[in-house]
Amino acid sequence: MKSMIYKNYKYYKKLLNNFKYMKNVHMKDLFLNSKNRFKKFSINFKDYLLLDYSKNIVDNNTMYNLFKFAEEINIYDEILKMFSGEKINETENNSVLHIALRNLRNIPIFVDKKNVMHEINLCLKKMKKFSNNVINGAWRGCTNKKIKNIINIGIGGSELGPKMVNYALKDYKNHLNIYYLSNVDNNNLIDILNNIDIESSLFLIVSKTFSTSETIVNSNSIKKYFLKKFNNKDFIANHFCAISNNTNASIKFGIRKENIFKIFDWIGGRYSVWSSVGLSVMLSIGYKNFKKFLAGANKMDVHFCNKSYNKNIPIILALLSFWYIFFFNTSTEAVLTYNNRLSKFYNYLQQLNMESNGKNIDKNGKRVSYNTCPIIWGGTGTNCQHSFFQLLHQGTRLIPCDFIAFVNNFSNLFYNHNLHLLSNFFAQTQALSFGDSVLSKNLKNDFFNIRKKDNYLFHKKFFGNIPSNSILFKKLDPYSLGLLLSLYEHKTFVQGVIFNIFSFDQWGVELGKTLSNNIYNMLKKNNDINYKYDSSTNGLINFYKKWKYK
Ligand code: F6P
Repeated sequence: MKSMIYKNYKYYKKLLNNFKYMKNVHMKDLFLNSKNRFKKFSINFKDYLLLDYSKNIVDNNTMYNLFKFAEEINIYDEILKMFSGEKINETENNSVLHIALRNLRNIPIFVDKKNVMHEINLCLKKMKKFSNNVINGAWRGCTNKKIKNIINIGIGGSELGPKMVNYALKDYKNHLNIYYLSNVDNNNLIDILNNIDIESSLFLIVSKTFSTSETIVNSNSIKKYFLKKFNNKDFIANHFCAISNNTNASIKFGIRKENIFKIFDWIGGRYSVWSSVGLSVMLSIGYKNFKKFLAGANKMDVHFCNKSYNKNIPIILALLSFWYIFFFNTSTEAVLTYNNRLSKFYNYLQQLNMESNGKNIDKNGKRVSYNTCPIIWGGTGTNCQHSFFQLLHQGTRLIPCDFIAFVNNFSNLFYNHNLHLLSNFFAQTQALSFGDSVLSKNLKNDFFNIRKKDNYLFHKKFFGNIPSNSILFKKLDPYSLGLLLSLYEHKTFVQGVIFNIFSFDQWGVELGKTLSNNIYNMLKKNNDINYKYDSSTNGLINFYKKWKYK
């Protein structure tokens, strides 16, 4: 694909030339020609994490030109702007400072001449006190019962990050049961209410704006349900807290001021798990583990800021993504996690990446002439191997993949399962890269059943040459999870810089919200509508009315 934006850039042109050659190269030859390819194209990050990017369709020249290209477009300048609190979220006139939330060394960061570290530390202290009180039973419900259930009411970034992290760190959790209520679908609400005893439940209303329709509808329904049972408005304060920027609306709901946790202006929803939005995580794993989670993220932040382009893990991943999107014309990326605890990771990543970079207008307000954000999808290995991996191996599209795994689980019980799990991981990346060429003679005979003169040989052919990154951690714990999330946040950031778009707004979600409010008013009325909207929308609304309660 031709990119108007970079066509005159020296290293973009060099990449274009390199691509003309690389598009006909097979990875197996790249490995044959370079015995130390793994060593050259892998990074051991302090014995916590290994990135192996050798199974990509790149040679020395490609990587050299990619790094030079990164230099040419000044990625470091952009990083510096973010880390120093510049208002890089231009369309909302905001800084972007999720990195400040895990700035555990307290390096001052200024927004409008105010050091934000002061209020961050106060908020963390407040979260610590609050979570300790709930965990140790000092916090009581209106009938003096200890809290057993935490219900996080929030959607988008106010749910996906905390829910994914809590699931991933299940082995570190205490006695509290954590639920997530996001969808406005009453099934979601009913299922949770059927599971909990409201007297020992604490509801966290998580909404930066305190106006997101799903969250407010759910919260109001629970409040109604609660008041029906207790008929005393004063009791609300024992069972509801708010994580929000909208203090007035929270107080109006019945929440005490001291139980409102601030979400700072300069944090976007999808980057907010490190903030008070992560309260459900802190409640579940405790303050100490939460700090380790922050520390892991901070370690990656420091790496991202300081390492040269050719040693910088998030930058390398973003450059490879750019290489495939701009030159090989790929449109999707698969993320395959070889650990059940990470089964919610790709949902989280979908919001992180696609809400950030799914844009078609560049920073100059012009419609872009190139593809931006890839479609992120994926799932859990090995389950996916028995569903969509067929398409990865033998489909018609080139789909770059990230494989993620942990060598050690929390428990060593049935450790042999890990051998199975990881041998599948390694085998899949091998098969994707080298196809059936990797089979030794004997295996080949077996595989193709050659002695029986197989008539369907071609259907069993694996051409390979499908790129993958392998991200291998030593262990799944709060620290390494912090590393992983921060790594993908920064990859997303660099992709946005390359696409020349604003990554930190999300105007694309607004139109649907406005229209649904309008249609909601139509659904409430009994009469049929004929001319209000287009014939399809009118037709759907009328069928809704006809079938309602039947
Ligand atoms: O609709 C998109 C969005 O604004 C997300 O970016 C955000 O994470 C989510 O809604 C929830 O927003 P809030 O925290 O204001 O309820």
